Amino acid sequence: MVEKMDSLQHDVLVVGGGGAGLRAAIAVARDHPDTSVGVISKVYPMRSHTVSAEGGAAAVISPSDSLDDHAYDTISGSDWLADQDAVEILVENATDEMLQLEHWGCPWSRDPDGHVSVRPFGGMKLERTWYAADKTGFHLLHTLFQTTLKYDAIIRYDEWFVTSLIVADGRCQGVTAIDIRTGEMLSIGAKSVVLCTGGGGRVYPFTTNGSIKTGDGMSLAYRAGVPLKDMEFVQYHPTGLPGTGILITEAARSEGGVLVNNEGRRYLQDYGLGQPLDLKDPDHPRKRTMELGPRDRLSQAFVKEREAGRTFEGADGDYVELDIRHLGEREIDRKIPMVRELAVRYIGIDPVHDPIPVRTVVHYMMGGIDTDTRGATSLPGLFAAGECACVSVNGANRLGSNSLTEILVFGARAAVAAVDHASRVSLPSNQLLESSARSEQSRLEATLLRKNGAGETVSGIRSDLQEALEEGAGIFRDEATLQRTCSTITDLQERYEKLVLTDTSRTFNTELVTALELGAMLDIGEAIAHSALARTESRGSHQRTDHPDRDDAGFLKHSLAYQSEGNPTIGYKDVTITRWPPGERVYGNV
Ligand code: FUM
Repeated sequence: MVEKMDSLQHDVLVVGGGGAGLRAAIAVARDHPDTSVGVISKVYPMRSHTVSAEGGAAAVISPSDSLDDHAYDTISGSDWLADQDAVEILVENATDEMLQLEHWGCPWSRDPDGHVSVRPFGGMKLERTWYAADKTGFHLLHTLFQTTLKYDAIIRYDEWFVTSLIVADGRCQGVTAIDIRTGEMLSIGAKSVVLCTGGGGRVYPFTTNGSIKTGDGMSLAYRAGVPLKDMEFVQYHPTGLPGTGILITEAARSEGGVLVNNEGRRYLQDYGLGQPLDLKDPDHPRKRTMELGPRDRLSQAFVKEREAGRTFEGADGDYVELDIRHLGEREIDRKIPMVRELAVRYIGIDPVHDPIPVRTVVHYMMGGIDTDTRGATSLPGLFAAGECACVSVNGANRLGSNSLTEILVFGARAAVAAVDHASRVSLPSNQLLESSARSEQSRLEATLLRKNGAGETVSGIRSDLQEALEEGAGIFRDEATLQRTCSTITDLQERYEKLVLTDTSRTFNTELVTALELGAMLDIGEAIAHSALARTESRGSHQRTDHPDRDDAGFLKHSLAYQSEGNPTIGYKDVTITRWPPGERVYGNV
């Protein structure tokens, strides 16, 4: 942890202490020992959301697999919206990153013969997902965190909340941030800033995302004039626990679990995803089943089943059943122990004996800060990687297990680009840093920290925002629902101006932190709804019931949402196609 200094400055400042941020910091410290690197995070790094990733990280390892196969699965899974140069970089660097983690101490699960175990994952036609049981994110984050501890050059600012980017002379020169322990507003100067702040699933009411995932970094970039790309693409995971939204990993299905409706039917056979395989077949867990279709299709199938009255009704909403009983207690405990633990703890069901109720749940944002393949944004000195960024390898639908790979590959790449930029510019002046902190403090005192006025509350505005997005920009959307959501968000932005905090103290003011987060949530909610309204086609996770077909002529392009006075401006840019022309997405038994 940093000791207070007169002037806080780094060559490279990483915002976010999750997988992408720590990987970036290690890349700087290991390969450029003379470069000073700061990591600032609103939570202690091991509390970052990477810790809750479960199923695994994709990288080619089997001789029957190939980089082209991994690339093709990713591109077709993205409904051809991924940039193919970025995907090629992802798959080419993936295996080295996994091996690197192994050398740093990541306990990848092993086959009896000592080979690294891999499992199939949704939308991937071959087994290429490396895992550490079903606690992959926990082990991965631990491995990265303990590796950062080797480098004295990495200075951490734990529990500091970044409130703005310092932009001067046309480039990003640092951040203003509140030290949450003391409430003090300070500037941290930097030649390069790398945003690795994760996604913003909390803008929806029901999500696998931890409460810290409020889109803060996306909003920082958006407010600084950097566009948010492809924000209309929000991933619903098909298997969340009713009530809490806790993720039941896709690994449960990759190990052979099946989804069943209230008629006892493996309903996915009715959605073009293949045919049911025989559960009594001893090889069943090793075969790719229709339950391992891509997440967009599985989530859409759930909604159709619900509309047809074939889901179960429960106190926490409708659900279908995930049945893993046929795997047996020994395999469940060996391969997916956390699935059992979560089901027992949170809903009192032991999946060794009973099926698990599951339902669709917001899980991931394919969209984010527009970057090139080095993580550079349109603002010189500002870089981004991981879920907050859109590079774009995920297009309109991410395949499970590609995101842990993405944070490693592109976290490291953003660091390289940030160091390169830092070598060409100078540190900001003390005068700039002091005036930035002062004006940011005044801004907060004139708004969120003012002591008078009658009040809107954080929770009131936040729950209305979440409801508006779910109602209008959920799995299926149309013009009318999106229009309503856009106009509700405008009203909520006006209400946010009237927000009054009950706690104006300085020490650990968590109400202030949630109010700042809410400001970010309104920004990204606006970008999601307006980008979705403008895209009059259906592609991947963006399903417009009033425009049900994919329209490559009109929309084989990325949307770019720019913050403007009033509604955001929506622009577009081309998708990079290298070797895989747009085609049909085909799934089935393999
Ligand atoms: O289901 C899962 O384990 C999720 C993995 C992912 O989102 O990559």
